[in-house]
Amino acid sequence: MEKFMFTATLRTLTLLLLSCSAHSVTSTLRCGNCGPTPVPYPLSTGPACGEPWYRIRCTAGTLWLDTLNNSSSYGITSINPETQRITIRPASLAPNTCLSSDFHSRGIQLDPNLPFNITSSNTVLLLNCTDAMLNLQAPINCSSNSLCHSFIRDNAAACTRAPLCCTFRTGGSQTAYIIRVHGGGCSAYQSFVNFDGPPSSAVVGVKKTKWPEPGVELEWVSPGEPICKSPVDCKDLLNSKCLVDPSTVGQRRCFCNGGFKWDFINGFCQSMAMVVGVVGIMGIVGYTKRHRLKRNAQKGLMKKQERMILSSKSSGKSARIFFTTKEIARATNNFSKDNLIGSGGFGEVFKGTFDDGTITAIKRAKLGNTRALIKF
Ligand SMILES: *[C@@H]1O[C@H](CO)[C@@H](O)[C@H](O)[C@H]1NC(C)=O
Ligand SMILES: *[C@@H]1O[C@H](CO)[C@@H](O)[C@H](O)[C@H]1NC(C)=O
Ligand SMILES: *[C@@H]1O[C@H](CO)[C@@H](O)[C@H](O)[C@H]1NC(C)=O
Ligand SMILES: *[C@@H]1O[C@H](CO)[C@@H](O)[C@H](O)[C@H]1NC(C)=O
Ligand SMILES: *[C@@H]1O[C@H](CO)[C@@H](O)[C@H](O)[C@H]1NC(C)=O
Repeated sequence: MEKFMFTATLRTLTLLLLSCSAHSVTSTLRCGNCGPTPVPYPLSTGPACGEPWYRIRCTAGTLWLDTLNNSSSYGITSINPETQRITIRPASLAPNTCLSSDFHSRGIQLDPNLPFNITSSNTVLLLNCTDAMLNLQAPINCSSNSLCHSFIRDNAAACTRAPLCCTFRTGGSQTAYIIRVHGGGCSAYQSFVNFDGPPSSAVVGVKKTKWPEPGVELEWVSPGEPICKSPVDCKDLLNSKCLVDPSTVGQRRCFCNGGFKWDFINGFCQSMAMVVGVVGIMGIVGYTKRHRLKRNAQKGLMKKQERMILSSKSSGKSARIFFTTKEIARATNNFSKDNLIGSGGFGEVFKGTFDDGTITAIKRAKLGNTRALIKF
C-alpha cells in the first residue's frame, strides 16, 4: 500500500484556515503577525486574541513590552514560544550622561501581577553607583576588575566620570521583576543575555572591543486552559468544553475533550493521536505522494527527513505521521473542491476530517515539489 508523508506545524495551518473565511473550519486564539513577526499564543496584542494577561503592544509593525503603569516601553527583539522566553532591548544611556534613559521609571519594573519575570540568564552591569552599593554582598561584584569597567571603557565614555560600577547575574526573587536604577544606588545599567564576558582583548587590553547586542531576557508562566463563561468562548479551541475549573472556585475553563490535549503553544486542543510519539505537533501539513519508489528507498528517505525535521530548530515542534492513501482520500472526500481551503505555489490545501473527528489541513504538494515536505 502506498504511504504518504504528513508533516505539520500549526502556525501555517492556522493562517491557512483563518485566511479562508468561507471555510471557517477553525481558528486558534493566536494573534496575527505584528509586521513580519509572528505573535505566538498566549501573547496578546489585542482584546480578541491571545490571553489578555499576556499583553504586549504592536505599534507600526514592532512589538513592545510596556512596564508597570506604562511608565516605560521596551522593544521586543526575540520571542521563543517553546522556551516561553522573550528578549527586550534595555534602555540606552541618555546622550553624554551616565543615566539610563529609563531612569525616570527607575529602570525596568515589571508588573508582578503579570505573567512575565526576568530569567537568570542576564548579566547586568550597573553604572554610576553610589558607595551604598559597596555594602552589598556577592553575587554583586563592584570590584575594580569587575566587567563593568571594560564596558565603560568600550561603550560609555560619560561613565568614566562616575567611577563606581558593579556587575551581577540575575536570578532569584530580588531580580524577578526589577532591574532597578535610582539616585541612591546606580543611575544606569546595561544587560546582556547568556553573556560569557566580552572577547578577552576587552578584559586584558586597552583596545576597544565590540560587545554583543544588549538584551534582557524574560520568561512567561505557562497559561492554563482559557477561561470561559459559555461554550461559545471555547469554539476557537476546537474539541473542548466549557467546564468548571476544579482548582478555582466559580471559574470555568475550556477543557479539551477526551483524546485531545491542550497545546498551550498553539492555543488549541490537539488530537492525542497526533501527539503520540511526537513532541507537541502541528501546523502546515506537508503531504506528498511518492510515486515509483521502492519501498526500502522510500523508508530510507523518510528516515532522513525525519531526522532533519527533528533536528530542525525551526518554528514549532514538528510531527510526522503516516497515513494511507485511503485515509487521506476519505478525510478529504477524494480531494473534493468543497474541501479546498487554499492553493498557491506550494500546491493545494484541503480540509481533512479524519475518522476520529480530527479536523486538519492537508497539503497536496505539486508534482516535483517534494521539498515542501521538510520545509516549515
Ligand atoms: C504604579 O501605580 C500604582 C498605583 O496606581 C502605584 O502605587 C505605584 O507606585 C506605581 N508604580 C510606579 C513604578 O510608578
Ligand atoms: C503605553 O505607552 C505607549 C507609548 O509609550 C502607548 O502607545 C500605549 O498606548 C500606552 N498604553 C496604555 C495602556 O496606556
Ligand atoms: C550619575 O548619577 C547622578 C544621579 O544619581 C547624576 O546626578 C549624575 O549626573 C550622573 N553622572 C553622570 C556622569 O551622568
Ligand atoms: C569580580 O569580577 C571579576 C571579573 O569577572 C573577577 O575576576 C573577580 O574575581 C570578581 N570579584 C568578586 C569579588 O567576585
Ligand atoms: C519566573 O517564572 C518561571 C516560569 O513560571 C518560574 O519557573 C520561575 O521560578 C520564576 N522566577 C522567579 C525568580 O520568580
